[in-house]
Amino acid sequence: SRPFIVAIDGPAGAGKSTTSRRLAARLGFAMVDTGAIYRTVALAARRAAIAFDDDAALGPLLPALCIRFAPPPGGEGAQRVLLGEEDVSAAIRTPEMSLGASAVSARPVVRAALLDLQRRLATAPGNAGAVLEGRDIGTVVFPDADAKFFLTASPEVRARRRFAELQARGDTTPFEQVLADQLKRDADDSSRAVAPLRPAADARVFDSTALSLDEVVEALAGEVRARVAQGV
Ligand code: C5P
Repeated sequence: SRPFIVAIDGPAGAGKSTTSRRLAARLGFAMVDTGAIYRTVALAARRAAIAFDDDAALGPLLPALCIRFAPPPGGEGAQRVLLGEEDVSAAIRTPEMSLGASAVSARPVVRAALLDLQRRLATAPGNAGAVLEGRDIGTVVFPDADAKFFLTASPEVRARRRFAELQARGDTTPFEQVLADQLKRDADDSSRAVAPLRPAADARVFDSTALSLDEVVEALAGEVRARVAQGV
């Protein structure tokens, strides 16, 4: 049987990354940031001068990409994202690559090519379990996930978090722009034909507008432990 799978979906800035990372660390599970994979595809396309909607060129590009995760240096913080041997962790976190990821991720040719990679990373030998975060984990990548969560928060609060993150990295994008980009991305991600952003029917929805991330992690960890104990 495969490892225990936790699916965490939701819109941009809902706190999925931090929550997933802390949850995975607590449970001793692997973590798979699927947004990072779409971001890396966007980066590779940009570098190859391929338009984000050019299916004919994206198709052959995808099998040539080697996208991997590596543990954070010193074991602290977010895992690193590797494209071939290059650490692209910082390069994929720009506002341009956020929109680029959203654009390439609407292409069925891209989504299909990445399905197997996401499933393999989650079920790699040695994984006791895996926490995957994204937009379609509970609906498409692992419809039979053992625990499904959908994290949201008000658009304003989510944009504030993203803005603070960008500022911490020295990015000077103004708040109004961060909010506008986020609203566009949420609208595009929710309205696309393939694997749109929406909660799975059996997902637990958490609104973190009024909750701290600690409280969210606490609630999720409690629920996952209960299910592990039930032997789901
Ligand atoms: O989560 P993150 O902001 O890194 O995701 C970047 C973009 O990648 C999202 O806006 C979405 O368009 C796309 N994505 C997706 N499916 C996933 C994860 C991310 O379509 N499972």
